[in-house]
Amino acid sequence: MKVLIVGSGGREHAIAWKVAQSPRVEKIYCAPGNGGIAQVAECVPIGAMEFDRLVDFARDKEIDLTVIGMDDPLVGGVVDAFEAAGLRVFGPRKNAAILEGSKAFSKDLMKKYGIPTAAYETFTDPDKALAYLETARFPIVLKADGLALGKGVLICENPEEARKGVRELMTDRKFGSAGDAIVIEEFMTGREVSVLSFVDGNVVKIMSSAQDHKRARDGDQGPNTGGMGNFSPSPFYTEEVDAFCKKYIYQPTVDAMKAEGRPFTGVIFFGLMLTEDGPKVLEYNARFGDPEAQVVLPRLNNDIIDVFEACIDGRLDQVELEFDNDRATVCVVLASDGYPVAYEKGFVIEGLEAFQGREDYYVFHSGTKLTETGQMVTNGGRVLGVTATGKDLKEARAKAYEATEWVKFGNKYMRRDIGKAIDEA
Ligand code: AMP
Ligand code: GLY
Repeated sequence: MKVLIVGSGGREHAIAWKVAQSPRVEKIYCAPGNGGIAQVAECVPIGAMEFDRLVDFARDKEIDLTVIGMDDPLVGGVVDAFEAAGLRVFGPRKNAAILEGSKAFSKDLMKKYGIPTAAYETFTDPDKALAYLETARFPIVLKADGLALGKGVLICENPEEARKGVRELMTDRKFGSAGDAIVIEEFMTGREVSVLSFVDGNVVKIMSSAQDHKRARDGDQGPNTGGMGNFSPSPFYTEEVDAFCKKYIYQPTVDAMKAEGRPFTGVIFFGLMLTEDGPKVLEYNARFGDPEAQVVLPRLNNDIIDVFEACIDGRLDQVELEFDNDRATVCVVLASDGYPVAYEKGFVIEGLEAFQGREDYYVFHSGTKLTETGQMVTNGGRVLGVTATGKDLKEARAKAYEATEWVKFGNKYMRRDIGKAIDEA
């Protein structure tokens, strides 16, 4: 079959790499893709938000299955556009992708269906938000309602910071219309765990857990990023936590979406915090995580095409997900120094050939480009996801950091403490 993948990051590279292993797949296209994805797929210069062009391309090339990796097109309704054209597509429709697209929607859903999450209020009027802060407890968390590249969440230590945050999001509209509404919520403490799942509208099946490192600098300092590296599985995701989440979070979320007339098909990413009062939902995403996909997919043993199709056809109950549970994976993101604030692009990347033919080592490309002369150059803030699998997290971590030394480019930056908590746990 012919498969089209929509997106251009490390997540889409990991998806394309996994799709390429399916004996059922004869050709992979990626729109728009990147320099690394071009090694496993034919990249086509169509943007992820150009729905008409994507649909026309899929029709022309007789694509059998399209997989949407990114949040923006999902929230914008790309799946509806494909379905309207009679094309097979993996991902939630617009009315279900709102689970990620609007924090106010997801918080209201959790409240209505009793799914554990932080207490909150939603505001569309900055004056009312400012008045609420007068009596609030600190720290407190402000969240832009809409998509803001993971940067629309502000943790405010005191009233002054919070008032500044309200002005930034709502009055100065730093994230545009994403800040037309904001959620102000209780600050929670605990370990964070990311859990990805496949969903077919009714049934939800959990993938191996992961732990992200969202802040730019070591020791969880510096600004929030899309993710600087992660590991899987999380040792803090115990059987007890899993049983609780299945009963009170995963299935109730899928049932709630169905009850609201918004059946969810695709991947739900549960961002959880393990608090003293039990696991609570920090956020939902309507797609694979980036870099969560890079640490979870290398240990998935199923043919991913079978899983995608089971979700689309509503027969996920017949699929048994199989993970290499006695192995662990660590991904260290190599970024361009300055990310996520200001950084340069266009540096030549050297050393990638060291990964060729080496089992257990992967290099997923996030922001790279092949030049006309065939050179691989940096083309984004997050550049590469250097990933390794080992017998446990400690070994995987040592191997991933070893492999980061194989690669060289100008302004290369990485966190040195990805997965360090494991050694200390
Ligand atoms: P989100 O995009 O909602 O996952 O938020 C980004 C990050 O902000 C999370 O990964 C947490 O580290 C932090 N965060 C979000 N909400 C809260 C909260 N209610 N309490 C504490 N930290 C939070
Ligand atoms: N790594 C977090 C995300 O994909 O949103």
